[in-house]
Amino acid sequence: MTDKQHRIQALIQAIVAYLEAHRSDAPGVDLTLDKLASMDLSCRQQRDVPPQGTRHDQVLTQAIADITEPKLLEIAKCLSAAKDDLVWREDNAQFYPPGADLGEGYIKCNLHSLLIGADACGHHHPDFSLGIFMLGPRTLYRDHNHDAPELYLNLSERSGWRFRSGEWQDYPAGSLIWNAAGEPHATRVYDLPFISVFVWLENVSSRCNVIPFDDWAEIEQGLAQKSI
Ligand SMILES: [Fe+2]
Repeated sequence: MTDKQHRIQALIQAIVAYLEAHRSDAPGVDLTLDKLASMDLSCRQQRDVPPQGTRHDQVLTQAIADITEPKLLEIAKCLSAAKDDLVWREDNAQFYPPGADLGEGYIKCNLHSLLIGADACGHHHPDFSLGIFMLGPRTLYRDHNHDAPELYLNLSERSGWRFRSGEWQDYPAGSLIWNAAGEPHATRVYDLPFISVFVWLENVSSRCNVIPFDDWAEIEQGLAQKSI
């Protein structure tokens, strides 16, 4: 096993350990752990994929450096060590149905790396994804849903979320967010980049449907002008 594979393996283990310690914090953590327990995540099953860097490396480096919550330090340390070993990709318009309007902010700076999943740099799985997800500062990730049930572990200090048509609420580093299949959700990012662990438990090839809300322009303006 190479040093690179060791670093990726350590990152996966740090994430799993956090989830195990927070089993009851959100619905979906148990389901995620059950799925993980059914997989062979041993070193000998690990893939060896050439790394792929990103044009957003500076934002990513800052996002990782900003993870200061003590209970997330092991994940932060492992992520920092493995950052240049991973395959970083951006979502682009092709990932969404024709005409889906994710907004300029999302297209400008979104990034992810799959640690487990189809074409992942850690372990292959045909219908489960676990990885790292990042958005640039002052971004609205517009309301959307998908058939894949989704779990987020927020690593950055503060991020705004709303579910269905509910009120915005801020969540701290270490919080867990569960989006059941088909449930609408949106995220807004303030001054620091947003970075998280994300999991899609099944239906990973389901499409992401953007759900129009008439306040997007207002929120995007508020974020740009720093009034939010
Ligand atoms: Fe989502």
